Amino acid sequence: MRFLQDLDDKEYEGKIALVRVDFNVSIRNGHIGEDYRIRMSLPTIEYLTKRNCKVILASHLGRPIAHHTKYSLKPVAHRLSEILSKRQVRFVNNSIGVEVENEIKNLPCDGVLLLENLRFYKEEELNDPEFSKKLASFADIYINDAFSTSHRKHSSTYGAATLFDIKLGGFNLKKEIEYLTMIKENPMRPFTIVIGGVKIKDKIGALENLLPKADKVLIGGAAAYTFLKSKGLKIGNSIIDHDHLKWVDQSLKKYGEKILLPSDHLVSSNPENTTPIYCMENIPDGMCGFDIGVNTIRTFSTQLGSKTKGTVFWNGPMGLFEKDVFSNGTINIAKSMALAYWRGSTTLIGGGDTMEGMKKAGVSENEVSHVSTGGGATLRYLAGDKMPGLFILN
Ligand code: ADP
Ligand code: 3PG
Ligand code: MG
Repeated sequence: MRFLQDLDDKEYEGKIALVRVDFNVSIRNGHIGEDYRIRMSLPTIEYLTKRNCKVILASHLGRPIAHHTKYSLKPVAHRLSEILSKRQVRFVNNSIGVEVENEIKNLPCDGVLLLENLRFYKEEELNDPEFSKKLASFADIYINDAFSTSHRKHSSTYGAATLFDIKLGGFNLKKEIEYLTMIKENPMRPFTIVIGGVKIKDKIGALENLLPKADKVLIGGAAAYTFLKSKGLKIGNSIIDHDHLKWVDQSLKKYGEKILLPSDHLVSSNPENTTPIYCMENIPDGMCGFDIGVNTIRTFSTQLGSKTKGTVFWNGPMGLFEKDVFSNGTINIAKSMALAYWRGSTTLIGGGDTMEGMKKAGVSENEVSHVSTGGGATLRYLAGDKMPGLFILN
């Protein structure tokens, strides 16, 4: 795979680059929430504009079934203009067509133009050849900086890319691949994994690959209850993944010695109840585990915070952290991750909710070696799945 710096500076001069970015961020009433994905695209944009290359940014936002202003990328153009040094980012209401062509013609040689949400065209997700051709027709160079969408075989991530002689990975994509490949293939030991969240199904592929390499695996969040059930403990009404009980059984048999599970919990009859009950081991009938308990927090935090070398990968909150009463586990794990980083470990965080948890704990991005921009894509990459958006760059 070739990256931005592998192309001679003069090859950028006076050219037009189509840059697939992932600006799929949360926008409410026109206001952007977490803008990490937008900020992570800045190095690539600045690199190109400094070399007098016009930048055409293309992204999706959400999963719209039709054109709807709620899913417009226009607020992102405003945000980008605020954070890009001395630069006004232009926005066009379409992703293809004459209007776009005219905007590009009128763009200064170091200008930046953001196209409207690609998914306003159903052709995008169908990887439609005609749509791909139209997208590709605007530019001389194709750049993928959207690691987090590279598991999708869409026009902008795949079809359009096939039509360029010069196709490169951007800086964000490069950083993601470097860190995640290290985790997948050669993690610095000791290697600790922290898994939480809800859906075991989404994490199985990554776990299959990482379990043999890991020295310790800490499992919390709703994911833990399927493991505890498999060990014969009572889990009350806690979330359980029946479809994957067998897989969990087998994993416990094979890797049980390195897997650490919660020994105590905060439980409640329902998530709205603000006065949870503390319980050890078995969860009473009718109760759900919504957070790990103090002993588990201590055990997990000691495992993480004492690390002075090695690697830690964390995906999935330790509880229903959106509710303050069930956020203690997630907050403490986030703080222990920061401690592990300050003491010399390489730490990686993946997953949108995990990042929210980290923010809630007041842990900044600078207290983690790498915060992945990907959700599904990160897990798929760690599982070793083929990623069309990366495959086509090779
Ligand atoms: P990520 O987005 O970081 O990959 P997931 O999507 O897998 O994480 O899981 C996040 C969700 O899991 C959060 O909404 C959180 O509230 C929920 N969750 C974690 N633990 C529990 C639990 N014990 N019971 C119910 N929901 C939980
Ligand atoms: C994500 O948020 O994981 C990416 O932007 C991909 O979005 P998608 O799952 O709607 O394809
Ligand atoms: Mg999530």
